[in-house]
Amino acid sequence: MSVHVQNSRMTTSKLRQMKASGEKIAMLTSYDFTLASLVDEAGIDMLLVGDSASNIVCGNLYTLPITVDEMIFLTKGVVRAAQHALVVCDMPFGSYQISEEEAVRNAIKIMKESGCDAVKLEGGEEILPAIRHMIQAGVPVMGHLGLTPQSVNQFGGYGLRAKDDAEAEKLLHDAKLLDEAGCFSIVLEKIPAALAARVTKAVSCPVIGIGAGNGCDGQVLVLQDMLGMNQGFKPKFLRRFAALASEIKNAVGNYIDAVKNSSFPSEEESY
Ligand code: KIV
Repeated sequence: MSVHVQNSRMTTSKLRQMKASGEKIAMLTSYDFTLASLVDEAGIDMLLVGDSASNIVCGNLYTLPITVDEMIFLTKGVVRAAQHALVVCDMPFGSYQISEEEAVRNAIKIMKESGCDAVKLEGGEEILPAIRHMIQAGVPVMGHLGLTPQSVNQFGGYGLRAKDDAEAEKLLHDAKLLDEAGCFSIVLEKIPAALAARVTKAVSCPVIGIGAGNGCDGQVLVLQDMLGMNQGFKPKFLRRFAALASEIKNAVGNYIDAVKNSSFPSEEESY
């Protein structure tokens, strides 16, 4: 195991320097203080409090139900844990689509109340006015294109996006617009690797991929998925770096046995 020791806080300008020098950017999701502390200590560059918390933390089928206040609650713990990583909080469904004013108000509320460094939101040209207003207001914004789970009901599922030329060209156009508007980074989710590499070369900001091949400036995965805690989720892009589901179940099984057979607590574990 390697731990990447860093002595100073990550910033959006350091991320740009990493893109320029070809140093890859490592990002993971986190939703709580304990795990975020470990991930931060291991040297991660960015922590994303994703709205995937709706699935991972709350057990919902979709990301749609999670609210601004729930995202703030989770993000506070991650911010307290982050000594090095830049913390990004997802803006949940409905918090930035209604009007530019509401988008800016919610982005500022999230930043003030959670203490996060930046927000992420899904979409391209259609949400550009909101993104421009947020950036003008001083909110660092990360874009998110390709598979955008908040639009699952429009897409009709979680399949590969931008397979045809028209959708690929729209995605490239959207990425350029987000870059020109001043997004500090863009996530590309579940699109062909060749397209992701093309987008990465075409924009000045760092591009972070998930299911978007190796040509991006960095990668992001959902922590519980890459730790092997989520046994049912097996997309092609997911590499499991641990098998914690079986580790946890074994540990809990051993605890149950020890309680049932009265071997826990021992004398040494008693006062
Ligand atoms: O919510 C999330 O976890 C995300 C990542 C998959 C990029 O948006």
